[in-house]
Formats: sequence, structure tokens, C-alpha cells
Amino acid sequence: MHRETWIFGYGSLIWRPAFRFERMAPGYITGWARRFWQGSTDHRGVPGAPGRVVTLVPAPLGRCWGMAYRVAAADVDEVLRALDHREKGGYARCDVPLTLAEEAHAESAPRAAIVYVATPDNPDYLGEAPLSEIAAQVLASHGPSGSNVEYVLRLADALAAMNATDDHVTELAQLVGQGAVARAPRSESRPAPAAAP
Ligand code: SIN
Repeated sequence: MHRETWIFGYGSLIWRPAFRFERMAPGYITGWARRFWQGSTDHRGVPGAPGRVVTLVPAPLGRCWGMAYRVAAADVDEVLRALDHREKGGYARCDVPLTLAEEAHAESAPRAAIVYVATPDNPDYLGEAPLSEIAAQVLASHGPSGSNVEYVLRLADALAAMNATDDHVTELAQLVGQGAVARAPRSESRPAPAAAP
């Protein structure tokens, strides 16, 4: 029997899947909360100065929204190989029940999906910290994939675009946005002079 393969993205995989898929659809998983508790030394930080990226932590009443991708059977091995490499900084594959938004009010049972989770036993795990400290670390971090600020703001934008609320991400994005403006050189925050007549 052919079993569909779905991959559930809740971080950068929402706005930059960069793999071949047949279908994408917003959806959610339950029992998990998205948190900026994973250190990144290969994408949004460097060894010795890690950035902060999202992982999932168990939350009995939690619901985490993200983007689900259905991958064709012929592509599954190649896609998972590429994702294992991309997520090698502490993440492991985990099977979770996924509900697509379009099916949320139907009686249909959740479908199985693969999700990448960074658990506390990986060497880059940073864990909980006050949001102001997380924001300061994000503002200071940069890695081979770009700035940590960009990661936070793109994730917040992508969730907003799918009407998904996540207070942890929204509040961090606000702090990071304010911090980025405060740090901008004065000339950048001043309005441009009017063009000469
Ligand atoms: C994900 O997006 O699903 C995993 C975490 C990340 O790559 O940001």
C-alpha cells in the first residue's frame, strides 16, 4: 500500500523549504510548542557565538502551526537526505500526527508527518532564557545562512501570512524589531533629505 509522506515545517522550512514537493498546505501539530531554545552554529551563528533558532518542546495543551509538504514517493529518499544535512545542527527526525487546516473541522483522523526536533541532549541546545536575553543574542548573531534577525522576522511574517498566532514568536519579533531600529546607524533612521527642486 502506498503511504503518503508529509514533512511538517515550523521554522525556516515554512518560508524556505528548498526541496521538491507535490503539495503544500498550512497545518498544525498538537502537544508541542515552538521555542527559540536551539543554538545555531551552522546557519544563524557560528561556533563560539551561536544564534538562536526554533525547536519544539513538549506542551500538553500546545498547538504549533506550520507548513506541511507532501513529497512524492520517488523524491522521498533524496529530500530526507538533503534535510538531514540541512538540519544536522542538533535536529533529529520525529513522527507526529498532523492536521491540515483544511481538514481541521472534518472528522478525518490526523495524518502522519515527519518533523525535525532538536532535543535537550544535543550539544547545541541552549534551552529556556528570558525573552529579552534571547532577543539580545539574536541581535548579535550572524551565520552562513544570514543574520539571526532575518530568521526571526521572516518566521514571524510567514506565520502572520497564514494567520497563525504564536505569542513566543510575535513577542520576540517585536523585541528584535525594536532592537534593530535602536542599533541602526542614525543616518539610516533619519528621513532622506527632500530631492533638490
Ligand atoms: C523547521 O523549520 O521545521 C525546523 C527548524 C528550522 O530549520 O528552522
